[in-house]
Amino acid sequence: MSSHYNSNITSYKINSGNVAFAAPSNIALVKYWGKRPVQIPENASLSFTLSACRTETSVKYDRKLTKDAKINFSFLFEGSPKPSFEPKIKTFLERVAPYFSFLKDFNFIINSKNTFPHSSGIASSASGMSALARCFVAIEQELGGDLSKAMQIEKASFLARLGSGSACRSLEGPVTVWGEHSSILNSSDEFAVKFSKPIHSIFTNYQDTVLLIDKGEKQVSSTVGHGLMHGHPFASQRFVQANQNLEKLTKVLETGDINEFIAIVESEALTLHAMMMSSQPYFILMKPNTLEVINEIWSFRKQTKIPVCFTLDAGANVHVLYPEEFKRQVLAFIKEKLAARCQNKQYICDYVGNGTIKL
Ligand code: DP6
Repeated sequence: MSSHYNSNITSYKINSGNVAFAAPSNIALVKYWGKRPVQIPENASLSFTLSACRTETSVKYDRKLTKDAKINFSFLFEGSPKPSFEPKIKTFLERVAPYFSFLKDFNFIINSKNTFPHSSGIASSASGMSALARCFVAIEQELGGDLSKAMQIEKASFLARLGSGSACRSLEGPVTVWGEHSSILNSSDEFAVKFSKPIHSIFTNYQDTVLLIDKGEKQVSSTVGHGLMHGHPFASQRFVQANQNLEKLTKVLETGDINEFIAIVESEALTLHAMMMSSQPYFILMKPNTLEVINEIWSFRKQTKIPVCFTLDAGANVHVLYPEEFKRQVLAFIKEKLAARCQNKQYICDYVGNGTIKL
């Protein structure tokens, strides 16, 4: 357990305040699927940090009049109480309490909103947990903490991971890696690091148009999904493969070999779903329109030679990835061919970004 994250502020500089941060979602190119307690990934993963899909969170804090042993918070989502979100936040605050000695001395009012549509099938746990973690690290600083800027980000990533694994990859951008890996300097299972090598210009401002194929409730929660990798017949080989793909992808990010990029990214997405299809119990999270869209993308790419590809998370939605220079053609293609495959013709135009922002 990383004790250097423990804070022990003995006297508080202030008794009340308010902090606010925006944190983006991220899209994994090499997938995290399989974990050990507590929130330790079975393989390293790599993602693009996004921009448009983000959570904005403010935390108001007030010193308790009389100290007690409880973590006291109330949670508002878009200004109204949202009891269904409270258990996840409670668990998060309990998990991070060992690293924040001030937590039981204050009352907190947490206010959150997402920039993406309600129940769009887009997971908000990455942006939500990273925004929350970043806010609490900022509160610690206001109360008298003395972490450097870099350590604040690292601690926030460490804590966001305890809320949701993939959330630790949303603090910085444009590319982050979570999980120990021999080719990534300072990489760790406990927090994500920024990919520090130069990235080829083709990946600058890379576009991710998220096609909302199915906005229904998740068929399998990610926690259950990760659990299915325990005792999975292909698990150990999958973890080796993910680490190899990450190694290959780090080279591709430097060289700009877009064909190799496409091959790795699409294979990662399909492998993630293959793992679910071959677990016990088994699941198919793709919908017929997911496959239709994938086939459309493949024929568009073949016909036009435009290097557009797809990735998937643990659901039916399709992330369409492409270099910014082809934005006009790809958006026209999406509008003409793919929008009809989306629920209510809905899709979200996102692009690579740099992580959390102070509001
Ligand atoms: C398929 O981070 O949502 O999106 O740690 O249980 O909260 P928990 O899981 P979560 O899993 C994300 C899985 C994924 C792949 C990825 O983002 O790497």
